[in-house]
Amino acid sequence: MEGKKAVITGSASGFGKETALLFAREGAEISLLDINAESAQKVATEIAKIGGRAHVMQVDVSEEESVKSAFSQALEQMHTVDILINCAGYGRSSRIQDLTLEQWRRLIDVNMTGTFLCCREIIPHMVERQCGKIVNLASICAQTGRMVAVDYAGSKSGIVGITRALALQVAADGINVNAIAPGPVVTPLFEKNYTTEQMNSLLSTIPFKRKGTPTDIANLLLFLSSDESGWITGEVIAINGGAFIG
Ligand SMILES: NC(=O)c1ccc[n+]([C@@H]2O[C@H](COP(=O)([O-])OP(=O)(O)OC[C@H]3O[C@@H](n4cnc5c(N)ncnc54)[C@H](O)[C@@H]3O)[C@@H](O)[C@H]2O)c1
Repeated sequence: MEGKKAVITGSASGFGKETALLFAREGAEISLLDINAESAQKVATEIAKIGGRAHVMQVDVSEEESVKSAFSQALEQMHTVDILINCAGYGRSSRIQDLTLEQWRRLIDVNMTGTFLCCREIIPHMVERQCGKIVNLASICAQTGRMVAVDYAGSKSGIVGITRALALQVAADGINVNAIAPGPVVTPLFEKNYTTEQMNSLLSTIPFKRKGTPTDIANLLLFLSSDESGWITGEVIAINGGAFIG
């Protein structure tokens, strides 16, 4: 990662935060894009303490103008972008009968349209440089479905489709586009969405003898952002402690 420049969305918390800290320890310069600029600033301060470089840009990934402005600031600060990690997202539990159109639209806008907008913003820059790495956050829900999560599972399945189609479009430009599909891992998102009982029930589906951690996720994102994964593209890599083996 030495000398690499990465944009990480959703980097104020959970997987994105852990990934930003790991990439910074590995020598990358990071633009931290998040709707929660205050928490992103705390991550930037942690990165500065370990001698790294980070910039904070407030963004709502579902808003076209906000995404344009954040990426233009990131490019202004870092001059190039080698890596884009699309972590910004959220979930909720609702039976389909209780899900309003407004709730559905907001979740699809953030998770799926947000991924589309961020990819669209960086692709011209990566095509011009004839290199780049993009990793999108899908979920085990796109592979197995999940009770009371048609909106979340739908958005994550959309991200799988975006990843595969974009990988084909830009393969000849030397750009890798992959997704990862994590199983349940305790993060602020997870704690917000589920009761302790629901969390324990989900975590009990994991055959591996320990729970997953944000570090497990960050390590996979590091590999997929590195030169060592240069011939992998269009893949959806499961990371779930054996909860789903497809
Ligand atoms: N935790 C899990 O078990 C799990 C499993 C599979 C997939 N995922 C996916 O991983 C990603 C990260 O999840 P996490 O568990 O780290 O969640 P998290 O809530 O800890 O972090 C998500 C971050 O995204 C930011 N964000 C939310 N909406 C935004 C918006 N409109 N614009 C910009 N930033 C926004 C939040 O402020 C937060 O900092 C999500 O896409 C999630 O769906 C999580």
